[in-house]
Amino acid sequence: MTFDAHPRSNLIVALDFDSLSSAVRFATKIADLVGMFKIGKQLFTAAGPEVVRQVSALGPGVFLDLKYHDIPNTVAGAVLSAAGIGGVQLVNIHALGGSAMMRAAVQSVNAVSAMGEDRPRLLAVTILTSLDHKAMREVGISGLPKDRVLKLAKLAKKAGVDGVVASVQEAKAIRKACGPEFLIATPGVRPAPKAGAAKQDDQSRTATPTEAIRAGADFVIVGRPILEAADPRQATQEIVDEIAAAQ
Ligand code: C5P
Repeated sequence: MTFDAHPRSNLIVALDFDSLSSAVRFATKIADLVGMFKIGKQLFTAAGPEVVRQVSALGPGVFLDLKYHDIPNTVAGAVLSAAGIGGVQLVNIHALGGSAMMRAAVQSVNAVSAMGEDRPRLLAVTILTSLDHKAMREVGISGLPKDRVLKLAKLAKKAGVDGVVASVQEAKAIRKACGPEFLIATPGVRPAPKAGAAKQDDQSRTATPTEAIRAGADFVIVGRPILEAADPRQATQEIVDEIAAAQ
């Protein structure tokens, strides 16, 4: 996978739609302005690999956000299948699946490059941002969320994973601990408000594209601020411009 130097490469737009036709119709409108499209569990469950093929045919790469978490053999197979669809540049797993599972996923992406194809990069989700300290304790995960996130990011790196999905608030510490090559993709990004308050949706901790890039993010993931914009092209362009200015 190669990223071009244009700031649009740093923007991943989350295609949170429930059907192939609505996702492809929307993606077509902004495909020339973005680096990648993220296809998550809802869209993939509804539309399957065909949506990955049709979206990647528009030009940008695909981040297949299925957050695999299973026994190592099953995850290895799932990652191989994801790479086999074509057009998938990023795929992810849960770091909480453990070192052996992460290593199995790494072996799968490496096997793809051994076959001479573009190797997708592998990201790990550390702790879901929807889990607070209390919710973590309930399921037996000790320590403060930010400490656990950092430990899991380091474990992922040790297993050979290429990077993590993390909040902007965590990005700086992860960059410092895991070095300049480790990829960081940050969701929960909202453009700076022009007038009045920014719309937060259900993201409890948000940051602007400028803050994300300055915290060391390689990719900013944006959904609703673009999907629900009156003019999605303008909303996308403004975010790309903000990324460019922050670099
Ligand atoms: O609409 P919004 O910009 O909040 O979309 C963010 C996207 O990033 C959604 O697809 C959401 O599932 C995803 N995401 C997130 N928080 C995480 C990981 C992924 O919001 N910690």
